[in-house]
Amino acid sequence: MTGKVKVGIIGLGFMGTTHFDIYQASGKAEVAAIADTNAAKMRGDISSVAGNIGGNNCKSLDFSDVAVYADGMDLINNPAVELVDICLPVFLHKKFALAAINAGKHVLCEKPLAMNSADATEIIAAAKNSNKCFMTGMCVRFWPEYRYVREQYKAGKYGKMRNAFFKRFSPTVSGNGWENWFADDSKSGGALLEMHLHDTDQVLYFFGRPNSVTTTGCKGMRSKDCWDHIFSFYDFGDGTMIVAEGGWTAAKRTPFEMSFQLICEQATVIFNHAGLNVYYEDGRIEKPELSDFTQATGWHEEIHYLLDSIIAGVPADKYISTDELIDGIRIIEAERKSAETGVPVAVEYKS
Ligand SMILES: NC(=O)c1ccc[n+]([C@@H]2O[C@H](COP(=O)([O-])OP(=O)(O)OC[C@H]3O[C@@H](n4cnc5c(N)ncnc54)[C@H](O)[C@@H]3O)[C@@H](O)[C@H]2O)c1
Repeated sequence: MTGKVKVGIIGLGFMGTTHFDIYQASGKAEVAAIADTNAAKMRGDISSVAGNIGGNNCKSLDFSDVAVYADGMDLINNPAVELVDICLPVFLHKKFALAAINAGKHVLCEKPLAMNSADATEIIAAAKNSNKCFMTGMCVRFWPEYRYVREQYKAGKYGKMRNAFFKRFSPTVSGNGWENWFADDSKSGGALLEMHLHDTDQVLYFFGRPNSVTTTGCKGMRSKDCWDHIFSFYDFGDGTMIVAEGGWTAAKRTPFEMSFQLICEQATVIFNHAGLNVYYEDGRIEKPELSDFTQATGWHEEIHYLLDSIIAGVPADKYISTDELIDGIRIIEAERKSAETGVPVAVEYKS
């Protein structure tokens, strides 16, 4: 294709406004349409938007050249829109993702793709029948530090892994977002699905499919009925120790944290507030430059990759396959069952 990709964004909350900025600055896309049920947002007033990483200081957006809808289905039916970007609460993903795929659009659906693996499977089946790009916003797969370390690890630079720890920790989401949807398990899947999925997916990305999981956590501390904070142990049956912690239980002004540590035979790799550092067994310390990454964050990397794929007319599946999207949600389902029953749970993969 030639020219800029015409994008329609459904849902102008934290993620929708973040994506809006990235498209408009990309030089590869223009936002042609937006849809949101909120009247102020339809006028471009985004002063109510709150988020986890960095926040958004922008108070208004210029919609003079943008078609504005209250109903996302009208945006999907706009023939000018080539890429539909779904930035809605999780429980609404399935309805709009299926409609956009069936309308023949390229689709970016925010993560988690769906509330459960059955719905994710249905969406993926529809996407596989489409000849358009389909991607889910698993932005940590694109986050420079994570992707760099994973590539080095896979290339054998750090030696065999002995233990790994991934963490995602945020201030309470109570009161955040559209109608407090994060705090309702039937709308978000709790911190377990909405947030911790990123780290479950990193376990999958780095090490493949775990056999079983053992999970514990706390429920309803910052929400109506969600798993608000959890710890999971991923068993690969090989003596390695892989753990992830995820939760949105911190007090309001606690800084958001995403971090990991990888202890391998030849190096210990740590990414946290001090940046990315590699401590080799022989005493060398390396601070990788990450010069292969041209974009500032995983969100930018992800969207530029998708736009490049659409423009080149190739599938957008280099960094995460559609089957892995379903696997990630299946592992989360096993984690939920383990947290609820107090025993290890085998993950049921379908293929
Ligand atoms: N990739 C990431 O790092 C990341 C970070 C935060 C959120 N997310 C994901 O992004 C998605 C959106 O989260 P958010 O934080 O932006 O939520 P949000 O509550 O800030 O925004 C949701 C928006 O959807 C609008 N909306 C609700 N129902 C609608 C409907 N039927 N039609 C049109 N608009 C409607 C609301 O008015 C609101 O503007 C979720 O899937 C979330 O898990 C991803």
